[in-house]
Amino acid sequence: MSSTLIKELKQEVNKRRTFAIIAHPDAGKTTLTEKLLLFGGAIRLAGSVKARKANRHATSDWMEIEKQRGISVTSSVMQFDYAGHRVNILDTPGHQDFSEDTYRTLTAADSAVMLIDVAKGVEVQTIKLFQVCRQRGIPIFTFINKLDREGKNPFELMEELEQVLGIRSVPMNWPIGMGHDLCGVYDRMKSQVELFQGDDHSKIVVKKVADYNDPAIREMAGDHLTDQLVEDLELLDVAGDPFDLDKVLAGELTPIFFGSAVNNFGVQTFLDNFLQLAPKPSARNSTQGIIDPLENEKFSGYVFKIQANMNPAHRDRIAFLRICSGKFERGMSVKHVRNGKDIKLSQPQQFLAQDRDIVDVAYPGDIIGLFDPGIFRIGDSLSQTADLVYNELPTFSPEIFSKVSIKNALKYKQFQKGIDQLTEEGTIQVFTTTSGFDELILGVVGQLQFEVFEYRMRAEYGVETMMQRMPYQFARWITGDKIDPAKFRINTTLVKDKKGNFVVLFENEYAMRTAMEKFPDYQFLETAP
Ligand code: G4P
Repeated sequence: MSSTLIKELKQEVNKRRTFAIIAHPDAGKTTLTEKLLLFGGAIRLAGSVKARKANRHATSDWMEIEKQRGISVTSSVMQFDYAGHRVNILDTPGHQDFSEDTYRTLTAADSAVMLIDVAKGVEVQTIKLFQVCRQRGIPIFTFINKLDREGKNPFELMEELEQVLGIRSVPMNWPIGMGHDLCGVYDRMKSQVELFQGDDHSKIVVKKVADYNDPAIREMAGDHLTDQLVEDLELLDVAGDPFDLDKVLAGELTPIFFGSAVNNFGVQTFLDNFLQLAPKPSARNSTQGIIDPLENEKFSGYVFKIQANMNPAHRDRIAFLRICSGKFERGMSVKHVRNGKDIKLSQPQQFLAQDRDIVDVAYPGDIIGLFDPGIFRIGDSLSQTADLVYNELPTFSPEIFSKVSIKNALKYKQFQKGIDQLTEEGTIQVFTTTSGFDELILGVVGQLQFEVFEYRMRAEYGVETMMQRMPYQFARWITGDKIDPAKFRINTTLVKDKKGNFVVLFENEYAMRTAMEKFPDYQFLETAP
């Protein structure tokens, strides 16, 4: 083993932090991302990330979305250097862009930042994304945003994290006043106060104090706010969870930071602490056992997302690869493990804010975009070690369903080919009915996936499709003896997935629970067995 390469890998891996920001739309993800990029010097102008977002959502016409993809491709991963760290932020599309890709992207992250609007608390999309992170056991850091607005009481928010998400939390800082009264935050770890100053809160002053009883706080914040602060912090000291890094790293305890992204308040403290506490690129499971990036010098990685290219007339796409071990060098040859062929990685791209650069070297934790003339599928592994396969991508349980049929029956062959390929690529999941007519049902997690499907069927396979939305919201794979469609008639239906596994679709949670109680001999699974 070449010790110089291992040394280089150690250095590069140790300084990397690869994470995703998970949030419900409007919590302030774009704003926070922009502030982080500003700290890293990756963008110079406040407003540039926002302008892009506005562009992206100006239209829902798919042709337009597709054009905008060129822009969103470059924003899928944002890389910058800050305080000796190399930071990779993965974009997790929300709004109408929400799709299975959003979930898959989370598999490429080593930690997540959960952004919560102080007034709204834990919202639907946050719950879904949180659960995916939970399943992977990655550490989750919480940023409670919009502290300059009236919102929920911090204790109430902590309670909500526990009740709704089932995770305990430890506040790293604590607000001194909130909303209109917001005067600053008290940093519990460093025993210092960060004060908001000026009418427009444009100035931030940091002052070291002995502890929260330091009279200097009273001088700065006044009696009323200080009394509340002392009362809250005493309660936290007695009844709150102590900070425990092992629990944080195991995803059992989430550190909370309070702040206001748009005012840049609490953002730097958050970034500094986060980079200290968040894990470096982690070891990953493979068919060759656990691959630790600090010990393996052979290059390996897996494709977690494939994005259609700007020009829909060309079928070329970009495959996003998460590097798991070794050093990537432009032009290197690696094995495409699924088809056993050697391929040369000659034109990889890296993504930094707005510019797309050709990348010469990259290390574990980095994401590179590979030009894909149609050779990659989601989940493919590339490796210098033959047969090393990462199994990082589960199928996610679809939540929106639609019957699909073809307008012109003469095109059936192309239709079938399109369905097969788009299923393999992970654009959609496909099911067939068990009623005897073999109708096709598509399942997705985000509406956008249907739009992509229809558009690509037309553009790439010349097939016009008809979609008929179905009322189902949940899918569970079932195993057991004597599975009979007649048992699943009311608010449910029994279908088969591509491999012939039985799947029950339910209209609502009540129907699902009823079925589970009624048929205790069956196993109901969230993903394919
Ligand atoms: P998203 O990407 O999560 O969807 O959220 P985004 O950053 O676009 O923020 C949503 C709205 O919340 C924006 O307002 C943004 O300015 C605002 N916001 C973000 N952080 C804070 C904060 O700390 N305090 C307050 N008061 N507002 C915040 P908007 O009116 O939708 O857009 P804009 O007019 O500001 O562009």
